[in-house]
Amino acid sequence: MKATEYVCQACSAIHPRWAGRCNGCGGWSTLVEERTQSRTRGAAPRTGSALGVGTGKAVALSEALADEPSRTPTGMSEIDRVLGGGLVEGSVVLLGGEPGVGKSTLLGHIVAHLGMQAGTRPVLYVSGEESAAQVASRARRLGVRDDARMRILATSELSDVEEALHAHDPAVVAVDSVQTLRASELESAAGSVSQLREVTARLVTHAKQHKRTVLLVGHVTKDGSLAGPKVLEHLVDVVLSFDGQRSGGPRLLRSVKNRFGASGELAVLEMSREGLREVPDPSALFLAERPKDVPGSAVVSSADGARPLLMEVQALVTPSAMPVPRRVATGVDTTRLAILAAVLSQRAGLSLRDRDVFVSVAGGASIDEPAADLAVACALASSVADLALPGDLVVFGEIGLAGEVRAVPRCTQRLEEAVKLGFKRALIPRANVDRGEVPPGITAHGVSHAREIAQWIDRKAEGR
Ligand code: TYD
Ligand code: MG
Repeated sequence: MKATEYVCQACSAIHPRWAGRCNGCGGWSTLVEERTQSRTRGAAPRTGSALGVGTGKAVALSEALADEPSRTPTGMSEIDRVLGGGLVEGSVVLLGGEPGVGKSTLLGHIVAHLGMQAGTRPVLYVSGEESAAQVASRARRLGVRDDARMRILATSELSDVEEALHAHDPAVVAVDSVQTLRASELESAAGSVSQLREVTARLVTHAKQHKRTVLLVGHVTKDGSLAGPKVLEHLVDVVLSFDGQRSGGPRLLRSVKNRFGASGELAVLEMSREGLREVPDPSALFLAERPKDVPGSAVVSSADGARPLLMEVQALVTPSAMPVPRRVATGVDTTRLAILAAVLSQRAGLSLRDRDVFVSVAGGASIDEPAADLAVACALASSVADLALPGDLVVFGEIGLAGEVRAVPRCTQRLEEAVKLGFKRALIPRANVDRGEVPPGITAHGVSHAREIAQWIDRKAEGR
């Protein structure tokens, strides 16, 4: 029996009838007609053992612990760290990123490395976008030996992949990309939500049943989310996002979700002629082009993942000609910036009314933690006062709605990273100073309210 449903391509909500607006996410014109087969077979919602994750029987804790899966290094220690210590056998990893960021290259590195390891099972690289020759020539450029046990399958049919899985029994399957694969049982086009759901669910089942590690590349839409995000993210074990500018500069690999380790881990890589390279000292790279003695620049020590990272926050405040002044941010959350601008205007004596505010994180990086608030505030205050912050100053702290500056986690590690790069002064939450979280080698000034920023800058202006 054939059925027709209308699936939102943004949030995957299913509607029996077409509508201009999705009930689920409120998006306009996101519903697409998808014809699916009767739900009696295959496409039923798969959870628990339907995904092949278990036997359907309850087991004792000790028994479950003895079943701990093994981890395989990928050949790049930074990537292993983001994965939580290597690739877990039987896990499904989704790698999302914009076109050109280097997803195929990253996959090529991992597959090439694993194909050259001793072992009996080969690796399979499925490409729906490039020919086998293209994949092979890239793999060679990335240093794969001709005797590597690597098989390449150029196809867009899921059934071909399944045949190859039975024929070669690979330990690792890389799929580039999941949007190009299509299950012929469904009539909808490759990349539609119902296809993504079916393809991913079937690959996940294979992974769990045959202890295969599956690496899926997923394209992201313009707004940075994975196509059919909810469908894919809950089906897979690990979601990695790969960001960076196509033109060059650092590429950031971040774990967004990880069932086997911490999420938020970050690795910094660089694209070279020999493929991706690990950046040994990412903080130095992010600060390499920092202008000296320029107002509106502050250095933040961010600690999203386990490893602290120094980044430059830049701000520009200009008189506004708009009835509602603009708050524009890249690399920091725009809503957070709007709140911060309101708090600074209202509580810290830093008038941003009638002014446009632009904030950006240098090097195409992004910061997704409240600890960046104080650095953004300092960059804004510095731009307004037209006064550069000291070049050896590092700043971090969360700012609340009352203007209070709140303590941040892992203060000592953040400061230690700053000390390594030669920073001598820090402007940080007073609570962190009071807890004795300042390592030797740096002088920390504690602040407890955002208004102290303006006062501190005024004192600097007067040379005190
Ligand atoms: P690619 O991995 O194809 O990106 P994606 O799969 O995410 O679309 O490659 C990204 C860019 O990197 C591409 O423009 C070519 C370039 N590149 C190098 O500079 N060096 C290399 O060794 C490789 C393989 C690619
Ligand atoms: Mg690609």
